[in-house]
Amino acid sequence: MPNTILTGAQWGDEGKGKIIDFLTDEADIVVRSQGGNNAGHTIVIGGEKYVLHLIPSGILRKSKVCVIGNGVVIDPVSLVGEIEGLRKRGVAVGKNLLISDAAHLVLPYHRELDGQREARKGKGKIGTTKRGIGPAYCDKAARTGLRMCDLIRPDVFSKKLAERMRENNALLKSLGVRPMNGKAILKDYLAAAAVLRPFVTNTVVYLHKALKSGKQLLFEGAQGTFLDIDHGTYPYVTSSNTTAGGACTGSGVPPHRVDCVLGVMKAYTTRVGEGPFPTEDKGLSDALHAMGREFGATTGRARRCGWFDAVATRYAAMVNGIDDIAITNLDGLDAVPSIRICTAYKLDGKKLDYPPVDPDALARCKPVYVEMPGWNKPTDKARKFSDLPPRAREYVKKLAELTGARLSIVSIGPARAQTIRL
Ligand code: GDP
Ligand code: IMO
Ligand code: MG
Repeated sequence: MPNTILTGAQWGDEGKGKIIDFLTDEADIVVRSQGGNNAGHTIVIGGEKYVLHLIPSGILRKSKVCVIGNGVVIDPVSLVGEIEGLRKRGVAVGKNLLISDAAHLVLPYHRELDGQREARKGKGKIGTTKRGIGPAYCDKAARTGLRMCDLIRPDVFSKKLAERMRENNALLKSLGVRPMNGKAILKDYLAAAAVLRPFVTNTVVYLHKALKSGKQLLFEGAQGTFLDIDHGTYPYVTSSNTTAGGACTGSGVPPHRVDCVLGVMKAYTTRVGEGPFPTEDKGLSDALHAMGREFGATTGRARRCGWFDAVATRYAAMVNGIDDIAITNLDGLDAVPSIRICTAYKLDGKKLDYPPVDPDALARCKPVYVEMPGWNKPTDKARKFSDLPPRAREYVKKLAELTGARLSIVSIGPARAQTIRL
């Protein structure tokens, strides 16, 4: 397999974890390069469901190496919980996991500030996962962040934390919130450090050595294109570059070592949290929720659902340089009698073929739809493209054509076997 960046082409939860797990068979190393435990990547193997937040989805395949790169923000206590949870289920986590010494830490005051800022915004809230992601990236940009290389040196960490506690407690106090107990935080974080220390290394050097020896890299994007801090529906976004470029800055692997960008998209659209969503459709949301689908893997919140938005995926193809696409959750539309695809927006009487940057303008955009007849047959047992009903084949081909990239994978269920390679 060529070195591949896998990126979400919508608003996250496209099924990246499932596709990563499928592709890891052919890769050597799976790399996370941005985001944190706001991500929830679901993998189903032999009827067993795993949800990964910080650990790359390659961990479930033996003899593959997983790297948490410099661009990820790590909540160490949460990461230890994830490692222990996997070990309890018989998944080996040892030399197969490497953590960047340059990755920034999420601290309890980041989580508190995340919650406070959301509460203060009231109706205008972002609807974050409240994992402290925004405030942690704020500290990184403000150059006041603490990193893995600090955490693993107890004397350094305790000094730096005490300094940070002073500023953050003053900030919390000014917001009318009780100051946090620095001693308790130090104790928890040093305990986590003791578990994580053996995994911490210079992952940039590791990845370059691996590239030199011909190893194949698979970058596991978190979130999705329209949650990108630069290219998403700001301010209703996350705080990292979720688009393909983020994989390079967040890992130290240069762009010319990347051979392929694979965009993952659902056969419809979902979004969790607030913000504009032109093709949102209550009827489709209700139908999918009634089937027990589309509840968040991290927070359990019901995802908002809508029709496939080709204006958005075309834009995603452009920004990420998507060569190939994987369409997931096609089976979610099996019982929908007539299926809509948004091909353009109408804004103040004018036709638009790209999403406007201003969130108020995007919220006013009316989707222009083409309608296709549904196939009204189950697709979940299909194993070859030719097993799919003709209308389902036509539908996915249309999505690829409108997005402007090669259709290479179709997914018709959460399990590994429910994946069709074209
Ligand atoms: P991620 O964040 O992009 O990894 O996606 P999530 O795991 O948050 O959400 C995707 C959901 O869809 C999970 O519950 C997956 O198990 C599930 N899933 C992925 N692909 C398919 C598919 O083709 N069909 C069905 N029915 N479920 C799928
Ligand atoms: P995966 O990797 C879907 C959303 C939140 C909120 C916004 C900001 O599983 O696709 P944050 O906590 O990051 O500050 O929240 O981004 N969000 C996601 N939505 N999938 C995700 O990750 C998400 N990670 C964050 O709901 O709207
Ligand atoms: Mg998810």
